[in-house]
Amino acid sequence: MVNVKLDGVEVEVEPGTTVLEAAKKAGIEIPHLCTLKDLYNGASCRLCLVKTTRGKLVPACAYQVYRDEEFTVNSLELKRIRKVNFELLLSFHKIECWKCERKGDCLLASLSQELGVEGIPVCSQCPLPPEECLLTKGILCLGMITSSGCDAECITSGGQCWGCRGPITRRDVLERAFKRYEELGFNIDDVLFRAEIFWNSVPAFEKLKKVAAEVRGGKK
Ligand code: SF4
Ligand code: SF4
Ligand code: FES
Repeated sequence: MVNVKLDGVEVEVEPGTTVLEAAKKAGIEIPHLCTLKDLYNGASCRLCLVKTTRGKLVPACAYQVYRDEEFTVNSLELKRIRKVNFELLLSFHKIECWKCERKGDCLLASLSQELGVEGIPVCSQCPLPPEECLLTKGILCLGMITSSGCDAECITSGGQCWGCRGPITRRDVLERAFKRYEELGFNIDDVLFRAEIFWNSVPAFEKLKKVAAEVRGGKK
């Protein structure tokens, strides 16, 4: 057995155990996305980076321990690095949660909350299957333009999202959302009117209005 120290917490593991597995054994959470035990170990997402005592960053999911070793696993620096890596990953991901099969149980959405990365809409938490999205029934829901992170009753019960979390600020997501509102026959003025009830004093609301105006081809 070897002794692994993670942020000062010691745990004994078999030689060859990964830092991620050792952390799990010690009850320590390290964010991870791409690793699938015995299936994929390419260490590509870089969310699980930890730091050795020599200051080297290594992926916890792939780095195996063969001798007593110590790691920093949850410092402010590591949180910042993970956040940047996650933002990069998201920039390659088409966020259209309202029609995604994973919504309601999305690892990206939970990681974005955990890492404090903005840009995934409330739709990612919506329990309604895509075909039952309220918008398709003509009911105006702000879910597509509202930040996720809300466990409010209105969403968990499958009702409307009224925007209590504030607007998302990611431009590509807002653009897709406003296009969808238009495709479904909603008047963007009605969407903005509803949103303004909650967001009129929120700085991000100005950006949202600008994107809405551009999508509709006007300048307001
Ligand atoms: S629910 Fe998750 S996987 Fe689906 S589009 Fe949204 S963020 Fe992406
Ligand atoms: S009902 Fe609202 S929150 Fe749910 S998927 Fe549709 S727009 Fe998003
Ligand atoms: S979980 Fe993706 S690099 Fe470790």
